[in-house]
Amino acid sequence: MDVQEVVKQRRSIRQFLAKPVPEEMIREIVSDALWAPSWGNTQPWEIVVVTGDKLEQFKKENVEALTSGAAMTHEVIIPEVWPDALKQRYKDVGKSVLGSLEIARGDVEGRTRYYGQMFSFFDAPAILMFLVDREVALEYAMLDIGSILQTTCLLAQNKGLGTCILAASINYASIARKLLEVPDNKRIIIGTALGWPDNNASVNHFNRERGELDEFVRWVK
Ligand SMILES: Cc1cc2nc3c(=O)[nH]c(=O)nc-3n(C[C@H](O)[C@H](O)[C@H](O)COP(=O)(O)O)c2cc1C
Repeated sequence: MDVQEVVKQRRSIRQFLAKPVPEEMIREIVSDALWAPSWGNTQPWEIVVVTGDKLEQFKKENVEALTSGAAMTHEVIIPEVWPDALKQRYKDVGKSVLGSLEIARGDVEGRTRYYGQMFSFFDAPAILMFLVDREVALEYAMLDIGSILQTTCLLAQNKGLGTCILAASINYASIARKLLEVPDNKRIIIGTALGWPDNNASVNHFNRERGELDEFVRWVK
């Protein structure tokens, strides 16, 4: 597929088919993604591919933590405040997602069910967790992780797979740390769900929004 097409067709997938992704396909995606650029070619990442029983356990414990109201244990700062325009976009995507699932604003039960699905990674058959060495300055290493993360998502898209980058996979990083036996010298940054998109699911089809070029770009000549 043409690069431009892959970039534009990739979207966050929030319902996956109950169909495993062959390990060989994941190997191909990740080995190609390793060509992502990084500061001084340091390649500071470690990628943990989680499938099978371990993934089921991860989903189960993650949802339990959410429903019990446990304190979050993320290892990177997750933003809580935004300038108004950004906050509006955040609200809008939430409305689009819930709207596509016909969950009304006041439907507390529906929302709770939805968050349960999110914290079980939308039933994806695989999740890829991205870690970084603690010795590396985090601010800059985040750029490297962003670079390999999006490369991974695009390569998956190119194979007809879907992804959803998930803060919900690291809100309770202590669960991942224990289950995936993450050593102390590694920090858990983010995960992405990976699987076959359910093309019949409305949540995978709502209209997404992007600002216009001039909102973001300033030409200096
Ligand atoms: C760092 C990061 C964390 C995200 N965490 C979540 C999440 O926890 N749950 C979710 O449904 N989507 C999550 N997303 C997906 C974004 O909501 C999505 O990328 C954004 O709305 C743009 O839509 P698109 O990916 O379909 O183009 C995350 C994306 C990024 C980059």
